[in-house]
Amino acid sequence: MYPLLASGTDTGYIVGVRADDYGLSAESAARQVRELQPNIVFLCSPNNPTGTGLGLDVVEAVYEAGEPSQTIVIVDEAYHEFAHDGTPSALTLLPGRERLIVSRTMSKAFALAGARVGYMAAAPEVTDALRLVRLPYHLSAITQATALAALHHRVALMADVEDIKRQRDRIVSELQRMGLKPAASDSNYVFFGGLDNPHEVWQGLLDAGVLIRDVGIAGHLRVTAGTETETTAFLEALERILAGRAVQPA
Ligand SMILES: Cc1ncc(COP(=O)(O)O)c(C=O)c1O
Repeated sequence: MYPLLASGTDTGYIVGVRADDYGLSAESAARQVRELQPNIVFLCSPNNPTGTGLGLDVVEAVYEAGEPSQTIVIVDEAYHEFAHDGTPSALTLLPGRERLIVSRTMSKAFALAGARVGYMAAAPEVTDALRLVRLPYHLSAITQATALAALHHRVALMADVEDIKRQRDRIVSELQRMGLKPAASDSNYVFFGGLDNPHEVWQGLLDAGVLIRDVGIAGHLRVTAGTETETTAFLEALERILAGRAVQPA
């Protein structure tokens, strides 16, 4: 969506570069910001589609590298609630960094994508400036009431997050056991490689009643963690496909 939104506002958009294993070091990220001097940088942590998180050292380095160009750094933490316990949020870096913005959404951990509610934390100067440029009627009263109700029930909703994290970790270890290469995930999905023909595997899973995501990266697929039953259906179908056995629709 970022390039699409940029093109809709006539804004130039440059895709940053990651290492071959999709990692991003503080040094590489800072160098790219120094070279390009962008007005705004987006850092997704955990990243989509790899599910991998960024160390806070990367955020700090990018922020410092953006000092001469006064670059605004937006850390997209859409999936942060799914991160392993103890993973620090970029929220902890906000004090004293007035060019830093941390954005979140209610679409993922709160399972409320239909409400279309996102939010951000930033210095008051930034939030005040945004009030001047935001659309006048951007959140309906009903949407706001829905978001407040979800916050009210956050303990129950976060319990579902813990279940999803358990299934996510189960997927990673089971895929490793099957000889595949799952990326370390701090998200609610697992990006995995080691597939000779990902599209055939994707189709085989679909034929078995399991829909996962072909994100168009060679040799890889991405699967979202679901309930224990859904995860079992995925893992069993995948194992049968890899073994070259026919799969019966679920
Ligand atoms: C990295 C990332 N950020 C933000 C979002 C935003 O979600 P929404 O527009 O539903 O709030 C998504 C959704 O897929 C995402 O993958």
